[in-house]
Amino acid sequence: MHENPTPPAPKLFTWEFASDPYPAYAWLREHAPVHRTELPSGVEAWLVTRYADARQALADQRLSKNPLHHSEHAHGKGKVGIPGERSANLMTHLLNIDPPDHTRLRRLVSKAFTPRRVAEFAPRVQELTDRLIDGFCEKGGADLIHEFAFPLPIYAICDMLGVPPEDQDDFRDWAGMMIRHGGGPRGGVARSVKKMRTYLAELIHRKREDLGDDLISGLIRASDHGEHLTENEAAAMAFILLFAGFETTVNLIGNGTYALLRHPEQRERLQRALAEGDASLLATGVEELLRYDGPVELATWRFATQNLVIGGQRIAEGDPVLVVLAAADRDPERFADPDALDLSRRDNQHLGYGHGIHYCLGAPLARLEGQTALATLLRRLPDLRLAAAPEDLRWRGGLIMRGLRTLPVEFTARP
Ligand code: HEM
Repeated sequence: MHENPTPPAPKLFTWEFASDPYPAYAWLREHAPVHRTELPSGVEAWLVTRYADARQALADQRLSKNPLHHSEHAHGKGKVGIPGERSANLMTHLLNIDPPDHTRLRRLVSKAFTPRRVAEFAPRVQELTDRLIDGFCEKGGADLIHEFAFPLPIYAICDMLGVPPEDQDDFRDWAGMMIRHGGGPRGGVARSVKKMRTYLAELIHRKREDLGDDLISGLIRASDHGEHLTENEAAAMAFILLFAGFETTVNLIGNGTYALLRHPEQRERLQRALAEGDASLLATGVEELLRYDGPVELATWRFATQNLVIGGQRIAEGDPVLVVLAAADRDPERFADPDALDLSRRDNQHLGYGHGIHYCLGAPLARLEGQTALATLLRRLPDLRLAAAPEDLRWRGGLIMRGLRTLPVEFTARP
């Protein structure tokens, strides 16, 4: 008889799993580090959960981002990608393509979406953050997802792209539809994607006549060896900036605030450092929050373009591979005491923004928004606390993203 029989395999993708997937990921890392499973959509995919395998897979060019490489696509059953995007002709975005197209498009967008543009945007992010907190600080309570984490990134990216203020609430509605039904009915999502696409195409058309200093104008202007983005490519690019930069940042603010509220000693440390004018703990802290409970639970789809081996496991050509960033970032082989939140963690090469050629293009903007949002919340509402028991909070059951549906908080009301 074995003294320590292997515990039974955990059930994946249940509500219990959605609220705390980390024990299941620990089991997979230990017992089935490259694991084939059926997803809720019915698609079969490999889950990669160890840090070393995950990092290697993210950089492996034999894994394509193009859904045409999915074996099911050949049978007309392809079910992956953003609902509505096929019909909407938004397929040519960065997360769906490989080199050399990816290299060309990424080089062009990098000329417009520069770290300098992001740095110059800092005062605007602070203004938006303060305006949103002004909206609820007199009430003594709020749902931080709906009143803060959700609107901040959508207004920020709309502003940066150059969407006029009077149209931004439309984006808020479309984005709300996409986030609410991300894992559910596809009809409404597809309609919202279509409306967004039509709007962006018209906006790009108008901007071409009257270039400004916004990011869409920058995308139109960007050229490389005489090459420009076509209008279609510019629309797909604007769309992916919105789509990739929106729910992720909502969840960085939501998951990050929640983790701080659950770790009072860490939160007090951060509050003290901020009060003393020391921003270094804020910088390492936001990286640690990304590692500890990041917004992107699974990296986006990859497909084997040939038979290959990951972590000793044979993967067949056409098979989908999902790299589980949330599992890799808690791997004890890579991180000391991985289940502990340590805002000053130094050796922290987490995979929360991915790795390799698809490494998050928006990381500088995400850092700016995350740091501004958390620092301003803690400064303006110093006694912020949870207004619900953790077991009563509901997490969204989406496949790729990890985030809370609501985050009820209370605090001393102030004018
Ligand atoms: C790619 C995470 C915010 C734009 C990625 C990837 C991850 C990620 C993991 C790689 C996916 C893969 O390899 O499958 C995050 C997180 C964010 C965030 C955690 C917030 C905390 C943003 C923002 C923007 C953005 C604010 C833009 C405004 C993009 C784009 C890509 C990308 C365009 C595709 C890059 C490529 O394929 O070359 N992001 N992201 N992201 N992200 Fe982010």
